[in-house]
Amino acid sequence: MEIAGVPLPRGSMVTPLIASANLDESAFPRADTLDITRSPNRHLSFGLGSHFCLGAPLARLEARIALPALLRRFERLELAVPVEQLSWRPHVALRGVRALPLTVTPTTDAALRSAGT
Ligand code: HEM
Repeated sequence: MEIAGVPLPRGSMVTPLIASANLDESAFPRADTLDITRSPNRHLSFGLGSHFCLGAPLARLEARIALPALLRRFERLELAVPVEQLSWRPHVALRGVRALPLTVTPTTDAALRSAGT
């Protein structure tokens, strides 16, 4: 068979990349934009079907706790280097930076106290 013009001989091994599916413009308008309010959001980050990630509820809970805690602690987070200087780990499926240098502005104790945290 052939997929997108690439011939696949019988018996070939094919590894679909989930990250590329999540950037499919026909499924996600402005797919390249990080939009945490996107709805509907039928992403494949935790897989699909019988092998759907067993840890997904834990991972979601951790994000729901950690991200607000980070944003409460620092009123401003900025990249400390130009984006072109970020170094990406070479990996066929999992994309991520080796390090994410940030300049942070801590929230003042008074602001934390008035937010009750
Ligand atoms: C953001 C964090 C995570 C992401 C993006 C993620 C992603 C995935 C994906 C895509 C799969 C499906 C692989 C496949 O189809 O073969 C998977 C499976 C799995 N994940 Fe996660 N995962 C995360 C966190 C976790 C955590 C925290 C745990 C355990 C505490 C976990 C345990 C598992 C297990 C056991 C499977 C295999 C399920 C099966 O094959 O039936 N994952 N994960």
